[in-house]
Amino acid sequence: MDNKLIEQIKKLKAERDAVILAHNYQPGEIQDLADFCGDSLGLSIQASQTDAEVIVFCGVQFMAETAAILSPEKTVLLPEKFAGCPMADMITAEQLRQLKKENPDALVVCYVNSSAEVKAESDYCCTSANAVEVVNSLPEGKRILFVPDQHLGQFAAERTGRKLVLWPGYCPTHVLITTDDIKAARAKYPDAIVMTHPECTEPVKELSDELLSTGQMLKFAAKSKAKRFIIATEIGIIHTLKKQNPEAEFFPASDRAICPNMKKITIDKVIGSLENMQYKVTVPDTIRIEAKKALDRMVEILPEK
Ligand code: 13P
Ligand code: SF4
Repeated sequence: MDNKLIEQIKKLKAERDAVILAHNYQPGEIQDLADFCGDSLGLSIQASQTDAEVIVFCGVQFMAETAAILSPEKTVLLPEKFAGCPMADMITAEQLRQLKKENPDALVVCYVNSSAEVKAESDYCCTSANAVEVVNSLPEGKRILFVPDQHLGQFAAERTGRKLVLWPGYCPTHVLITTDDIKAARAKYPDAIVMTHPECTEPVKELSDELLSTGQMLKFAAKSKAKRFIIATEIGIIHTLKKQNPEAEFFPASDRAICPNMKKITIDKVIGSLENMQYKVTVPDTIRIEAKKALDRMVEILPEK
């Protein structure tokens, strides 16, 4: 990246007392300029612990909302107003209230990829890094509703042996990865380990070696003796995988696995965000207080891997 731009961002950050958080699916140059880059769980923990007054969130709407819920005294900025998550939009608070009415004794676990309103209607939040631990922590025999990602829900059900009521949401980017993609990549790189995100479909997961959140993929690659990896998730993470493991090779399972919303953030928009303090993400107190309970329970339950 241009040194002038780096200096400009540094100066603006100091003036605003800002920290830049970025998700592992962000464009490479955004990951490089961030103070902290990570998966949804890591970013939530950072957002709840930072001393900075301003959080510039390079990710999508629900991530910035999560930061605003966990740190209401801070100003949270999303550099691109329309960076949303289509999966999060697949369930509304009204739909969840209806589902709860139909299952009056159930507990609700919502994936962090959900709106603040949906979190406020949920008992527990989870990320792909701790969904298994969150479900395992719930009382035996209790009915559990899992929203909105059916594929993460299915993964948690299989790993815990619990029966979950799954909402039929999905990530439009992860479902683009097919079994043919995995078979073709394996044929090309037979010695490679296939690391797959739980948001992928069940047949794809069955053909994989490791099912991991993006943060867990980074940890796994750092510890592994393997030198080749096939990556079945949004391709943005390959930037950091390569950077942290220069001696290893990483191949995307599919070049189509690109989240258009994650790629809306640019360096110019980060600068604009700091200069103009835009776009502020806030959550009304009535929703925030309820949503925070579900998020607090999530941040407390750490993954084993
Ligand atoms: P993680 O980085 O938590 O694995 O999240 C994946 C994702 O799809 C975020 O939108
Ligand atoms: Fe949402 Fe999928 Fe994009 Fe993540 S990768 S932000 S789940 S659409």
